[in-house]
Amino acid sequence: MPATDILCVLALLIGMVHARLANFTIDDTSPAVTYTQAPLVRCSPGSCDVSWTDRLHNGTSSTTNSPMMVSFTGTAVYVFLGTSGSCILNIDGVQAGVYTNENDSDSIYLAYQSTSLPPGPHTLVMYPSKPGTFIQFDYVVYTNNTRRSHVGAIVGGVVGGLALAAGLSLAAFFLRRREKQRQLSTRGIPLGDHWPDKPSLKLTGMPAQK
Ligand SMILES: *[C@@H]1O[C@H](CO)[C@@H](O)[C@H](O)[C@H]1NC(C)=O
Ligand SMILES: *[C@@H]1O[C@H](CO)[C@@H](O)[C@H](O)[C@H]1NC(C)=O
Repeated sequence: MPATDILCVLALLIGMVHARLANFTIDDTSPAVTYTQAPLVRCSPGSCDVSWTDRLHNGTSSTTNSPMMVSFTGTAVYVFLGTSGSCILNIDGVQAGVYTNENDSDSIYLAYQSTSLPPGPHTLVMYPSKPGTFIQFDYVVYTNNTRRSHVGAIVGGVVGGLALAAGLSLAAFFLRRREKQRQLSTRGIPLGDHWPDKPSLKLTGMPAQK
């Protein structure tokens, strides 16, 4: 394949394989959440007041005074919780934020967000800043590439790119061949088996005709 065609395929691939981002939610009841101690209160429709559960994601929250851990893969994270004091948030072992709300522990707020995480798996740890502080954890949203459309785009890009390159090569071949024939004709060299002035050439290997 000529170098120009390879460049063409690369350009096509880069154009088609740009990431499509999507949001995913981890609820407090998800197996992706690890509680170091069983939550003191687990709210769900039926076990807590409707006026309370109506404000929660999928109607559930977990209240604890101990650390909890959430694993996710992506480039952004949004944490929704309430606290009776201060909640410390670590990402990948480094303190990323502190959320304080002394007067409204019953309500859920966007307590922390980061939209510039390096792509890949991350560990979020949340814990009260001091004993006696409660955290009502509701849910976490994280942003990641959608894998299926990613693979689809790569396959589509490769197949489409190769087809285009093959088409271009074929077109270039026929153009070059036509140009060569045109040049030969204009130089006065007859094409094909037509040599009226030199019949001996025409009939090489065959008995001469009179
Ligand atoms: C994900 O959710 C956050 C918070 O609701 C929002 O700001 C962001 O635009 C969303 N991203 C995508 C890709 O939907
Ligand atoms: C929402 O809650 C119901 C039970 O109330 C549960 O069966 C379901 O799995 C939950 N959905 C999510 C996304 O957590």
